[in-house]
Amino acid sequence: MRRFAVILLMVVLSGPVLAEDKLVRVQAPQALMDTGLLKFALPRFSLKTQVRIEYVPEGAEADLVIGDTGRAIFQGPNQVWKMDVRSADHPGTKQLADWLASDVGQRTIASYAPDGTTLFGPPQAEARVVVEVTLDGDAELGHKVSREKCTRCHAVDEATKGWGIGSTPSFGVLRSLHDWEGRFAAFYALNPHPAFTQIEDVTDPFPMDRPSPIAPVELTFDELQAMLAYVAAMPAADLGKPLDHQ
Ligand code: HEC
Repeated sequence: MRRFAVILLMVVLSGPVLAEDKLVRVQAPQALMDTGLLKFALPRFSLKTQVRIEYVPEGAEADLVIGDTGRAIFQGPNQVWKMDVRSADHPGTKQLADWLASDVGQRTIASYAPDGTTLFGPPQAEARVVVEVTLDGDAELGHKVSREKCTRCHAVDEATKGWGIGSTPSFGVLRSLHDWEGRFAAFYALNPHPAFTQIEDVTDPFPMDRPSPIAPVELTFDELQAMLAYVAAMPAADLGKPLDHQ
C-alpha cells in the first residue's frame, strides 16, 4: 500500500512536467494543412516518440512554425517549406525538429502520396548553392585538406585506411563511383555534411536554431577545388566496403 502511495506521488509530481515536455504546439499555413501531409506524417512521429502534436492557429503561441522562415525541411508542390523552431530548449520540440530533418522523417514526408502522387520531397534549396568546381586545383593542398578535415569520418588515403568511422565510405570507394565528381564537388550539400559543413562564400551560415552538432568542417572555395583535384588524381582503389545506399 505504501509503495502504491509513493508511485502515485511520483506520478503526480512528474506528470505535468512530462506532459508539458511531450506536447508540441505546431503552427502551419492552411495551404499546407490542406494537403494532409502533417496529419499523415506527424502521427508517425508521435507514435515513435510519445510526443503529441497540437495544431495552433496562426498568431497563437507556437513551439515550431512551418512556413517560409527558418531552416528548409521539405518542398512541394510549389514551395520550399521551412521550420522556425521557437522553443529550441523544449525537449519535445527538439525531438520533432530533429525528426523532421532526419532520414526517417524525410522518408516519411517523401512517402506521402495521396492518390498515388508524391507531393513532397527534400528541399532542393541546398542544391542551388552548388557551385561550379574544376579539376585544376592544387592536388597537394587538396590532399592536406582532406587529411585535415575529412579523416574524422573517412579513410582518405593508404595511410589513413581504417581511420574514421568504419561505416563511412573511404575516398577510394567514392572515387570508384562513376559519378564521383559530382558527389565530391557538392559533398557539402549531401547528407550528412550540410549540418556541419561550411564552404566560405558558398554555403549559408548554419541557422541560429541549428548550430553544427559537431566541430564544423570549414573549407574555402580554393580548398574545395584543391580537394577535388586531389581526388581526381587518386586511384579508385580499395573496393572493400561498398557504399550502403544512394
Ligand atoms: C562527421 C563525419 C564526416 C565528415 C567530417 C565528413 N564526412 Fe563525408 N560522409 C560522411 C558519411 C557518414 C557519409 C555517407 C553518407 C551515406 O552513405 O549516405 C559521407 C559521404 C560522403 C560523400 C559521398 C556523398 C554521397 O551522397 O554520395 C562524399 C563525396 C564525402 N562524404 C566527402 C567528404 C569530404 C570531402 C569531407 C571533408 C572535407 C567529408 N566528407 C567529411 C561523414 C562525414
